[in-house]
Amino acid sequence: MLVQRMRPFTSTIFAEMSALALRTGAINLGQGFPDTDGPPSLLADAAANITGGINQYPPGIGVPALREAIAAHQARFYGRVIDPADVLVTTGATEAIASAVLALCEPGDEVVAFQPYYDSYAATVALAGAVLKAVPLRPPAFGFDPGELRAAFTSRTKVVLVNTPHNPTGAVFDAGQLAQIGALAAEFGAVVVTDEVYEHMAFDGRPHVPMATLPGMAERTLTISSAGKTFSVTGWKVGWIHGPSELVAAVKAAKQFLTYVSGAPFQPAIANALALPDAFYADLGSSLQRKRDLLADGLRAAGFTVFEPAGTYFVVTDAAPLGVTDGAEFCWRLPELVGVAAVPVSVFCADPDLGRTLVRFAFCKRDEVLDSAVDRLSGLKAEL
Ligand SMILES: Cc1ncc(COP(=O)(O)O)c(C=O)c1O
Repeated sequence: MLVQRMRPFTSTIFAEMSALALRTGAINLGQGFPDTDGPPSLLADAAANITGGINQYPPGIGVPALREAIAAHQARFYGRVIDPADVLVTTGATEAIASAVLALCEPGDEVVAFQPYYDSYAATVALAGAVLKAVPLRPPAFGFDPGELRAAFTSRTKVVLVNTPHNPTGAVFDAGQLAQIGALAAEFGAVVVTDEVYEHMAFDGRPHVPMATLPGMAERTLTISSAGKTFSVTGWKVGWIHGPSELVAAVKAAKQFLTYVSGAPFQPAIANALALPDAFYADLGSSLQRKRDLLADGLRAAGFTVFEPAGTYFVVTDAAPLGVTDGAEFCWRLPELVGVAAVPVSVFCADPDLGRTLVRFAFCKRDEVLDSAVDRLSGLKAEL
């Protein structure tokens, strides 16, 4: 019964791999959710809001305190002055992405995105009846070829979807790369929708550069982020999107008929959390960087080629040195082989050949869980 355009998207690899991990007792480094809760003050605030009666529909655009806190966060970290009236709270970044694409694309319009991509991008573009033009990011650095990027733009390009820091590759686009993307968007009259959910997870002293901070880009950019990643509450599904008033108004028109609103007790709690001291944000980055190193060393020792991520909480590896020729098949076997679950990068690609032997592991887990995964992986060569 399913409409044709959604048929390629009937199940997600994350649900399948998580189910497999559960069935086999494997350590789940497939799906990207932290195994510790967010800051205690955030949890306490949300609990108090629930028992204190903040449980009915919040305003359609989000509670004022949260919209103000999102604007203040942009000023504090990026020196940007944005009007809280131009901030729209959404049901996770996922709804922000979907609302933007649904609001801006007519059927047949084109969306440029980089592959591999977060899996909702392709499904959302399909829902809108739009056409995805996927530009490859290739190892080891997962940058793009400027010629391939230009070739993806046409007179039908409406939206460019950018994600930095990038899931799954861990690439962090620098100002030069963003400027190239921005220049093409301007030349072809496209809106840039930038997914910055990993904004506080850039490593080794690299800055996260928001697209909207580039000269001339604020006027054509919609910026998205989410509390789920920054505050380790992925199950709360509170995200946001902001940009020029007329673009946000368009996104709001689509968003209000998807979920209308969500997260009443969570929104004021997240407003407070956004104002946590600098130490919170610094610790988030440094603790993940240490976890990255722990897992990356273990994966190297186990025989993978490791492409060290510059950001996010994912590491992409190449399993080819272990004799693997199909990453998807390998990921189905890995839980049985050594008791660890991962996801194949091919599922994030329009062209599966691009990531044929690449495998993604998540490191947003407690140190003892990562230690035990590394220990299990050390036996992999013997099992293959
Ligand atoms: C790049 C990217 N965007 C968006 C999301 C989803 O964010 P949310 O849970 O806030 O909808 C994810 C989650 O994994 C992601 O990796």
